[in-house]
Amino acid sequence: ENEGLLLGKRVLITAGPTREAIDPVRYLSNHSSGKMGFALAAAAAREGAEVTLVAGPCQLSTPAGVRRIDVISANEMHEAVANALAQQDLFIGCAAVADFRPASIAEQKMKKQDGENEMHIALVKNPDILAWVAQQEGAPYCVGFAAETENVEAYARKKLERKGIQMIIANDVSNSDLGFNSDNNAVVAISADSEQHIATNTKAEIAKQLIALISSKL
Ligand code: C5P
Repeated sequence: ENEGLLLGKRVLITAGPTREAIDPVRYLSNHSSGKMGFALAAAAAREGAEVTLVAGPCQLSTPAGVRRIDVISANEMHEAVANALAQQDLFIGCAAVADFRPASIAEQKMKKQDGENEMHIALVKNPDILAWVAQQEGAPYCVGFAAETENVEAYARKKLERKGIQMIIANDVSNSDLGFNSDNNAVVAISADSEQHIATNTKAEIAKQLIALISSKL
């Protein structure tokens, strides 16, 4: 039932959360499961693509035929993406990259001090991997995700322009049955000249439909 829609194409996908170390035993992260990105990698491979999946820490098995590179932090993800970028036809940024990381990583476990009821951790901005890829010379077709809780389509369109990418896939995360960590999702895929709604379905089925849509744009 697969039609080889991506035969001969090279696809690079980021998935999962990133983990930003505070000290040797603590980190900042988020609840991304990686399911959507892994489903996209599986769907692209089934359509004949040569798929590289750069994955943050997540508990999912590698889809058949997919080359997987495991990373921890946003900086490591950025480096892995940069190293794999040559000759890619399509980049899908599906990872929930931490926006900020601790300005420095304490070498020893941080101790609580007697009488101290507040503690502050200075954060610095992480690189925007997707926007960076879109800016590279000969950049692939770039697809990003937008998780919004309101004005989903308007914010998504702004993100498309701000990041200089070709397609944004927006999902409404205010519906707690969908999105993060769920097996289901509902999305709208927006490009400069098209807007396609995909109704609630499994992430596997959404991924299959998104890959068909994206392959029609390459
Ligand atoms: O700006 P925002 O985080 O909402 O954008 C989400 C999109 O950008 C996702 O596709 C995500 O993978 C990507 N992104 C990225 N690097 C970042 C932040 C977001 O690649 N540092």
